[in-house]
Amino acid sequence: MNDLRIGIIGAGNMAQALISGLVKQGFQHGLIAADPSAEARNAVTAHYQIKTTADNSAAVSDVDAIILAVKPQIMAAALASIKASVDQRQLVISIAAGIPSTAISAGLTAHQPVVRAMPNTPALIGAGISGMVANQYVNASQRQLAKRILEATGEAVWLPDETQMDAVTAVSGSGPAYFFLLLEALTQAGEKIGLEPATAARLALATGAGACRLASQSELSPGELRARVTSPGGTTAAALDVLQGGGFNELLEQAVSAARQRGAELAAGTD
Ligand SMILES: NC(=O)c1ccc[n+]([C@@H]2O[C@H](COP(=O)([O-])OP(=O)(O)OC[C@H]3O[C@@H](n4cnc5c(N)ncnc54)[C@H](OP(=O)(O)O)[C@@H]3O)[C@@H](O)[C@H]2O)c1
Repeated sequence: MNDLRIGIIGAGNMAQALISGLVKQGFQHGLIAADPSAEARNAVTAHYQIKTTADNSAAVSDVDAIILAVKPQIMAAALASIKASVDQRQLVISIAAGIPSTAISAGLTAHQPVVRAMPNTPALIGAGISGMVANQYVNASQRQLAKRILEATGEAVWLPDETQMDAVTAVSGSGPAYFFLLLEALTQAGEKIGLEPATAARLALATGAGACRLASQSELSPGELRARVTSPGGTTAAALDVLQGGGFNELLEQAVSAARQRGAELAAGTD
């Protein structure tokens, strides 16, 4: 599988996260990345020693899979630039937020195998998770290839249909920011009750990282883990009473719904 050739259109942050993971998996010789920016191309060549080009069409001819990693507003131009060089046996993976797979195939060939994916920023350190959906033209080996490519930046899960993509965006796409907010708020709360700012930040960060690692390695659900550390009448119970009594869960539900709604509006172009 490492003989496969992969062309990447756009060599920015997300593309570099994918390239980094793919190089670690031994795909280095089959990778080529296209970007109009000499700075981006030079960075990719210096860090990952893969081929680069300023010519999008050169990056897609003779490759098995094409990764579209440009900003959504650039997508139409990027598709137009490769259309003549793409054939309908090539797998196309788009990571652009809010662009439906039908818009990708409409810009290429009618029967183009397209996987639409939504990664998140922890992909930059190989700790991301992507939601993925495939159109009906993607065959079994292309599904495997798409999963393997996206797993180069962490985990990847298939979705039963594309309508769930806005929900994935709301939970895991925007999700890192929810955890960052919790870290900020816990740090500030620690400072307010007398801790040095640096100590409060360190305690909050190590606690967040440790709790997430524990939850991911434990056979218990987060709810069960929470119950285990919450003795009746104890300190944790006192804090959770405030959070849950103040509507913490409902607030998060509203936040995730707002993100999903916004994703749908942006995709429909009604912002
Ligand atoms: N960052 C995230 O957390 C995240 C998460 C999920 C999905 N995504 C999606 O990933 C995609 C890339 O995001 P990003 O954060 O990696 O953006 P980025 O860093 O701006 O990367 C995009 C790259 O594409 C280049 N480019 C511009 N026009 C091009 C063209 N016509 N052909 C080829 N390359 C072109 C840009 O060059 P210039 O800088 O010179 O314009 C830039 O290097 C977006 O569609 C975004 O929705 C991002």
